[in-house]
Amino acid sequence: MSDKNIEATILALSAFPNRYYKSQSGVDASNWLAAKWTGIAAGRPNITVKQVTHAGYPQASVMLSIAGSEKPDESVVLGAHLDSILVSRMSDTAQAPGADDDASGIASLTEALRSMLDRGYRPKRNIHFIAYAAEEVGLRGSQDIARTYRQGKGSVVGVLQLDMTNYKGAANDIYLFTDYTDSMQNAFLVQLISSYLPDLKLGYDKCGYACSDHASWQAQGFPTSMPFESSFARDNPAIHTAKDTYANSGGQAAHALKFARLAAAYAIEMGSDQAVLEKQKAH
Ligand code: BES
Ligand code: ZN
Repeated sequence: MSDKNIEATILALSAFPNRYYKSQSGVDASNWLAAKWTGIAAGRPNITVKQVTHAGYPQASVMLSIAGSEKPDESVVLGAHLDSILVSRMSDTAQAPGADDDASGIASLTEALRSMLDRGYRPKRNIHFIAYAAEEVGLRGSQDIARTYRQGKGSVVGVLQLDMTNYKGAANDIYLFTDYTDSMQNAFLVQLISSYLPDLKLGYDKCGYACSDHASWQAQGFPTSMPFESSFARDNPAIHTAKDTYANSGGQAAHALKFARLAAAYAIEMGSDQAVLEKQKAH
């Protein structure tokens, strides 16, 4: 995996004036990401990319699905949010680059996806990469999608949320948030980190409220996890302002790369046969 690829995605997404759920540039950003993921999936018959439309606003979520080879009714979900917001004064032309919140999460997922597909990875379970619309206005896109899954026939065996991955504000590399998440799956992530990313320093914290899209899945009864860039108190102070730029995340993508690696480890292990058993053992 390459931090330069992550940088390119963050710069492209943060170049839209904003990615607000009601603005034309929010729609344009959805179209841009759908095209980017379609390009990554080119020539793979087991992968589809679609835009999921939502009632009441024009920004569509983007979903890339890799069909599982053995368990077509079991799915793994990796998500981040596509939209951005300028909390002080939202308009069509507002500058809300959202480089960290949450272009970084989309970029980490995109690089995990690219590297998995470059190596020809074929999961046994379905894997869905989802870029949610309208997170910043009440988790609306993810709520819509999680409810649809609850009503559907297949099961979702695990959900990973990446929201803010590129600003290193505290001593540890990755903080697992313990609220609105599943303690068994969090223990599984600890095992993944010690097996695949043993040099990373791990901490724990919480938001204290339903702060991102994992909470939408948790509310529907699915196991979720939310690895975060810093402790809650030392998060990126520029979010929701015009200053949430790549430069203000230190002009680097090394931090987001750690989350890309963790996302790939999660997707590959959860997509394989053994993952559920291993989760139980970790518990
Ligand atoms: N990325 C933030 C959540 C966040 C902020 C986590 C700071 C940890 C530290 C997310 O995009 C967001 O802004 N969430 C809203 C709540 C949501 C329900 C609208 C928030 O935190 O105010
Ligand atoms: Zn936000």
